Amino acid sequence: MAENGGLYIALVSLHGLIRGTELELGRDADTGGQIKYVVELARALADHPDVWRVDLLTRLIDDPKVSRDYAQPRERIAERASIVRIPFGPRRYLRKEVLWPHLDEFIDMAPQYFHEVGRAPDLVHGHYADAGRAGARLATLLGVPLAFTGHSLGREKLRRLQEGGLDSETIESRYNINQRVEAEERALSTARLVIASTQQELETQYAQYANYRKRSVVVIPPGVDITRFRRPKRGDPDPPIKERVTRFLREPDKPWILAVQRPDERKNIRTLIHAYGQNEQLQEKANLVIVAGSRDDIHEMDKGARRVLNRMLYLVDLYDLYGKVAYPKRHDPEDVPALYRLAARTRGIFVNPALTEPFGLTLIEAAASGLPVVATQDGGPKDIVARCKNGLLIDPTDAQSMGAVLLAALSSKGRWRKWSQSGYRTARREYTWPAHVQRYLRAVRTTAKGAKDRKFPEAKIRLPSVDRMLVCDVDDTLTGDRAGLAALAEQFQRNRANTAFGVATGRGMQSAIDVLKEWKAPQPDFLITAVGSEIYYGPSWRADEGWQLHLGYRWNAKAVRELLQDVPGLVPQLETEQRPHKVSYFIDPAKAPSLRQLQRRLRAHHVLANLVFSRGQFLDLLPVRASKGLAMRYIAYKWGIPMERVLAAADSGNDADCLTGMSLGVVVGNHSAELDKYRDRKRVYFAQACHAWGVLEGIEHYDFFGDVRQPE
Ligand code: GLC
Ligand code: MG
Repeated sequence: MAENGGLYIALVSLHGLIRGTELELGRDADTGGQIKYVVELARALADHPDVWRVDLLTRLIDDPKVSRDYAQPRERIAERASIVRIPFGPRRYLRKEVLWPHLDEFIDMAPQYFHEVGRAPDLVHGHYADAGRAGARLATLLGVPLAFTGHSLGREKLRRLQEGGLDSETIESRYNINQRVEAEERALSTARLVIASTQQELETQYAQYANYRKRSVVVIPPGVDITRFRRPKRGDPDPPIKERVTRFLREPDKPWILAVQRPDERKNIRTLIHAYGQNEQLQEKANLVIVAGSRDDIHEMDKGARRVLNRMLYLVDLYDLYGKVAYPKRHDPEDVPALYRLAARTRGIFVNPALTEPFGLTLIEAAASGLPVVATQDGGPKDIVARCKNGLLIDPTDAQSMGAVLLAALSSKGRWRKWSQSGYRTARREYTWPAHVQRYLRAVRTTAKGAKDRKFPEAKIRLPSVDRMLVCDVDDTLTGDRAGLAALAEQFQRNRANTAFGVATGRGMQSAIDVLKEWKAPQPDFLITAVGSEIYYGPSWRADEGWQLHLGYRWNAKAVRELLQDVPGLVPQLETEQRPHKVSYFIDPAKAPSLRQLQRRLRAHHVLANLVFSRGQFLDLLPVRASKGLAMRYIAYKWGIPMERVLAAADSGNDADCLTGMSLGVVVGNHSAELDKYRDRKRVYFAQACHAWGVLEGIEHYDFFGDVRQPE
């Protein structure tokens, strides 16, 4: 089942620095637990026999300030898992708060990648608000379910910042919280499956959202790559990191209180040092070992980290903790398992004093190393300590009680041993990646089955798997001769596997669907409607939002209407024909000014529009970026289909710009005079036959279902 029949999962995680080896965890606020989580999840999923392939989509970063690794478009990280870097926005590294305006570009670029794979994924899984929103749009575009993991949520962050006394304006300018919350709402409203790490996260964080639906949420604790962690054994050689810690300590064999976290305000190292500094008994009993990322020159670090580290150094000095507190300058990721073991060997304890802790991966790592924990009474720690029975919880804001709890945790050898064993065993049983993947896939299968709209599983887009595209006008090109259309449908059916079929029409979506049904046309993969101003994908007719955004450029429908109000020879079409990006009239060329005059009139008022005249009687005004031909090119580009392998079939004026450029064209025998001027174009074939027979003649002319012959 691991071949093409297996699941293809696309994970999306857009910020921070992601690579397959030597993660730079702690380098900045965006490169932390989430990065590690998604890389390990990708590998673990790809290890399951039901999974065909896992791609982790992230941003391509081409910046001399970071490693070249992040500029490589593809990186294999396991036999069936890769990191796929899609360029979007500027090349340089950006912090997540300023990525927002560039997400649309990601959604426009990603489909080409799936064409490279030859298949759309079966599931898109967005991580954090940014990739949640982008993932929602991508999943909708592809017609596949979305899974969402928030990692940490904006509403909760907002609440805490407000509690901390920051005013809304500062919060907004610093963190872009509103945008983040909106993105999370969108992700939640689209997601079939929301994966929370803890019970509390679900109850207190996700539940704050309007689009939270209990049914779609499952709690699956994150896995830990347990293979890297073990208990210390007698005879373990001293790891290199040991000396870098012990050189700080006067009595290095005393129990270590070990803290491992990014130098981030929220991680609350400050209160921990107060707790230790104010408790002499605790200082007597144990050392404090603070591992807070690696640093060269603190003054060159970002402001948050700088503030945290400066305060740490200051507090050590204030309480005169020299000889009792260690804060190694640098460590490698490989040193972390050794640190837990060293702490366990001293019968020490792991402490996580963070103000909030949705995740708490380090707690599981500590447990897996046989090191008991004392952790903040929040999210992850609550579940983990309840399940592992390996320590105590603390109030992160109360230094005095924090000190007392730490002391209590270190006071009984028997209890220490029990905690150590229980944590070690439970971590292995409940928190491994294989255990996570087992539950993950079960949840994916149940939601797919339980989906209310039954057509959903079949809604997956076919475009990534085709290598050519036929685009037909509807009225008088496809329609007009039933036998011809039946013959065309039959031919298409036989070549469907590698051919996409779409229509491009002046009609609106519903009217197009109705007429296609009535004429028994083949089921299109996409509809270009309202003269190219709208794009929908079958079979559930999802709008292409990227196209809508693209068209908005300098478009003002109201101004167009006002300027053309009293022009003689123009009569507005029915209300149903007026669309957000299309203003339509009946035109009487004998009475109306010329198209050039109309265009001049609009320009004089700085109003931009595309004027399209068809069949001697219709006039459509569209955004400058809209036309059937532009929509056709957009689709081909977006889904990675070369223009030379696109065949457009036309009969009248509004089809005209489908006949230019590198695509192939066929004009049916019954065409209107507006198209005659294309007769001398090499890439346009004028068929003798009419209606769908004419389309078939064109298909034969180019051997379109065969080699796609290119005109000389
Ligand atoms: C279709 C549309 C109409 C448009 C015409 C020409 O008939 O319904 O609104 O003006 O095509 O594009
Ligand atoms: Mg037509």
